[in-house]
Amino acid sequence: MRAWVLNGPNLGRLGRRQPEIYGHTTHAELAERCVAWGSALGLEVEVRQTNHEGELLDWLNQAADEQIPVVLNAAAWTHYSWAIYDACAQLEAPLVEVHISDPTQRPEIFRHTSVVTEHAATVIAGHGIDGYRMALEFLARD
Ligand code: DQA
Repeated sequence: MRAWVLNGPNLGRLGRRQPEIYGHTTHAELAERCVAWGSALGLEVEVRQTNHEGELLDWLNQAADEQIPVVLNAAAWTHYSWAIYDACAQLEAPLVEVHISDPTQRPEIFRHTSVVTEHAATVIAGHGIDGYRMALEFLARD
């Protein structure tokens, strides 16, 4: 089974971006791990990251067309993008929402809402990079 891991804005700087919050693993290392975790679970994983909202919308639309399960960390778009809300609503295969930190426990109030959660089979937050492994395990079980 195929699965896509889609990462939103600023996650391309993982490892260098606020490491006290997001850790020291780079996006390239995260991608490598997701592919390895996936293959151990029998999943053919593809990892993508974009800073451009329309690109993420195109990927989500393609995932809807091709019924591809998605692990989504929409990063800041999580908190306000109704376009991503609408794109997630169209998905037919399972969607897992992932965050490296736990946005609900962070001081900024804007992080306490998610446009993704309503459409997600489950939410995994606050487990660092390991959250992606947990999300892939969820998809492999489903
Ligand atoms: C994040 C949490 C979001 O609030 C933030 O905007 C991000 C990353 C996380 O993985 O913890 O960019 O989604």
